Amino acid sequence: MRILVTGGTGYIGSHTCVQLLERGDEVVILDNLSNSKKEIVDHIETITGIRPVFYEADILDEDALERIFSAHAIDAVIHFAGLKAVGESVHQPLRYYHNNITGTLTLLAVMDRHDCRKIVFSSSATVYGTPASVPINEDFPTGGTTNPYGTTKLYLERILTDLHTADPRWSIVLLRYFNPVGAHDSKLIGDNPNGIPNNLMPYVTRVAKGILPCLSVFGDDYPTHDGTGVRDYIHVLDLAAGHVAVLPCLDQPGVKVYNLGTGIGYSVLDMIHAFEKANGIKLNYKIAPRREGDIAEVWSDPSKAERELGWKATRTLEDMCRSAWEFETNQN
Ligand code: NAD
Ligand code: WQD
Repeated sequence: MRILVTGGTGYIGSHTCVQLLERGDEVVILDNLSNSKKEIVDHIETITGIRPVFYEADILDEDALERIFSAHAIDAVIHFAGLKAVGESVHQPLRYYHNNITGTLTLLAVMDRHDCRKIVFSSSATVYGTPASVPINEDFPTGGTTNPYGTTKLYLERILTDLHTADPRWSIVLLRYFNPVGAHDSKLIGDNPNGIPNNLMPYVTRVAKGILPCLSVFGDDYPTHDGTGVRDYIHVLDLAAGHVAVLPCLDQPGVKVYNLGTGIGYSVLDMIHAFEKANGIKLNYKIAPRREGDIAEVWSDPSKAERELGWKATRTLEDMCRSAWEFETNQN
């Protein structure tokens, strides 16, 4: 297939591009480089031996999208492009709604004009809000998002569903990711956020490297097995493989929804100890107050994806911790 990957130089997008190229798809990447670097295209080429077509462009730029769809007969879009920092979204809601929602509306309008009505959308476990219980399956109610970032995902799921209702030719897959961590074995691509990381694993690797002095564990009084927050961490390579596994769904019109997680919850202290063990490193950490907006525990029921797509996460927590550290040590 000829696939347009928006946000293809980003963390999850770059790993997905590698797997698409390795199985013989043609990949066209569009990214405005607001949270990634152009060198990622070189790294994708080094890993796969194939250079993807790359456009430095914005999903808000309708003319640029027109040019890309006119130049390439795109069969399907995997849509990763978006802003994703939860805290930032609270302070800059208009920027988040404009980039994520208006950007996606612009993309969808151009796709429609070019008779390309197949899209895989990067959604998030955040659409479940505070779940009544765990594990979470796809039939759980959505809503109750606690920040504008999460609300953009919720609204976009709704917009895409309404689009299919209005025009049943659309094939839409909504993928709800849990907590992606880890990196490619080449050490060339991985999670490399600008500034001080918000997410746990890039914070851990930067403390381990001495770039940051100490990890704050946000709360040890949650009703979990050791008092710290529990999440469903999934290796980014397993997550990328999930995108390849859903592509056949695009042959049938409809809206499909899948959780991409492992079904296992690990606490912050579990993660710290696993990281220390996998890499033979002692981490400097301290217990700090709870972070506003956090919930005690979230993990997925990923069985629908296994049943319907034959996809299942296979990599271990040790793989996640080791690859994240190897990637960090390979950065300047
Ligand atoms: P990322 O920031 O590494 O990648 C997103 C890419 O999109 C970046 O390269 C950025 O430059 C690009 N981008 C942003 N706005 C754009 C625009 N207007 N036009 C063109 N390009 C634009 O993030 P990621 O972790 O790879 O996440 C990919 C997608 O998955 C996002 O939509 C994110 O919300 C979603 N997601 C991520 C996580 C996570 O924990 N990483 C979890 C759930 C969902
Ligand atoms: C994981 C755990 C923290 C940092 C976020 C988004 C979610 C999704 C994934 C996009 C929690 C604890 C963290 C630190 C800590 N993204 N922690 N010290 O909050 O589960 O999910 O990223 O869709 O929408 O909300 O991930 O990695 O920030 O936190 O103790 O310095 O680690 O409290 O328990 P989270 P996270």
